[in-house]
Amino acid sequence: MNISIFGLGYVGTVVAGCFAKAGHRVIGVDTERAKVDLINSGRSPIIEAEIEELLAAGVATGTVRATTDARDAVEATELSLLCVGTPSQPSGELDLTYIRRVCEDIGAVLRGKAARHVVVVRSTVLPGTIRDVVIPALERSSEKNFDVEFGVVMNPEFLRESTAVADFYAPPKTVIGSRNRADGELVARLYEGISAPLIHTALEVAETVKYCDNIFHALKITFGNEVGALCKSIGVDSHEVMRIFCQDTKLNLSPAYLKPGFAYGGSCLPKDLRALTWLARSRDIEIPMLSHITPSNDAQIRSALRLITSDGKRKIAVLGFAFKGGTDDLRESPIVTVVEALLGKGCELRLFDPYVNTARLVGANRRYIEGHIPHIAKLMVASAEEAVAGVDTVLIGNINTAYAPALATLTAEQRVIDLTSSGKASATAARYERLVG
Ligand SMILES: NC(=O)c1ccc[n+]([C@@H]2O[C@H](COP(=O)([O-])OP(=O)(O)OC[C@H]3O[C@@H](n4cnc5c(N)ncnc54)[C@H](O)[C@@H]3O)[C@@H](O)[C@H]2O)c1
Repeated sequence: MNISIFGLGYVGTVVAGCFAKAGHRVIGVDTERAKVDLINSGRSPIIEAEIEELLAAGVATGTVRATTDARDAVEATELSLLCVGTPSQPSGELDLTYIRRVCEDIGAVLRGKAARHVVVVRSTVLPGTIRDVVIPALERSSEKNFDVEFGVVMNPEFLRESTAVADFYAPPKTVIGSRNRADGELVARLYEGISAPLIHTALEVAETVKYCDNIFHALKITFGNEVGALCKSIGVDSHEVMRIFCQDTKLNLSPAYLKPGFAYGGSCLPKDLRALTWLARSRDIEIPMLSHITPSNDAQIRSALRLITSDGKRKIAVLGFAFKGGTDDLRESPIVTVVEALLGKGCELRLFDPYVNTARLVGANRRYIEGHIPHIAKLMVASAEEAVAGVDTVLIGNINTAYAPALATLTAEQRVIDLTSSGKASATAARYERLVG
């Protein structure tokens, strides 16, 4: 394919050299003449293993050249990859000056170009930037319509500096976000021969995934560092701890616990976090990230309360109020906290949880229910149908297919709030809302 690459910094230079080696014809574009001259002489404007050899070979065989002229590059290619910088402003907001300018440059050429062109954003941009900034800028300058006359695709870059070329050939994944699948398929052709999961998705999802990746990496580093600081203060080998921690690919390094939903609770996580943060305080060790997990969890509970009370309706059914499905354990259940707050606001509640009901009958959790939360026990009813009859709002507190028949009896005037955010659990005529997106 014929591709133009705008921005010959770390990403653009690596991508130019690697795509040329894969057999594509590449034209690099940069506003800095010195970078363009370096590439045209087969040298690299960045220090990165293997890249100079790739560029030298590409220039020698005529598969790579560079220019400062956007017109020359856009007219000669079918795809333009945007690899310009998106630095921070002092507030943290992205500086999109380079993105806007490059869109104006490309759009001005597209105005007179008959063939369909696809612009591929490889720079890291906040969700919504393509919709609100890139597409409007291209439409204004090209006087053409997005999707009909030109395409835009989000294809985030996952390479790491210092191992960038190796990462290009073995990326963790290739993510292609598009509105128009044909444009996404065109971009996918660039990656033929690279063995990595190829994922087509929506533009905004692709923009967001890149941030989740980088922030998760930052979070992992910080987690390791805070564990290390704590371990040092108590004379424990943190490397040995983390080596064992990482061997658990079932619960630790795995998709477990990574589904957006409701707050954690139960008899272990809240208690153990309190103990560990106390230990750090007692040793005068700062662990700001670990110390903010509980406040973040509390914020999730407050956000559920705001959503539930947002329409001022007061008759509420709760389906599932143990801290998770499949257990009768009510200790530190965040749903019980929600129920108590709603009672405090004068709401009328009916609660049903098949596991808690059974526990109450057989007495497994009976002492706890009757000793600690008798006010909750009084609100329990015998079936999900009884709980939801005539209420304004139904809260789904944990996942259970047993709620389906009751949800099927709801009407369009009733509202379901799914705290688990697991998706539309079953057919219901009621308005359905998830706590998180
Ligand atoms: N550096 C990385 O490891 C890495 C990895 C993944 C993603 N990213 C993202 O990729 C983007 C680029 O990062 P980078 O580190 O390569 O940036 P960089 O600052 O090294 O390079 C950007 C280049 O764009 C050029 N440029 C600016 N305006 C231009 C225009 N109108 N036309 C042509 N060229 C223009 C600049 O002269 C510069 O050479 C950023 O959004 C970054 O967040 C970076």
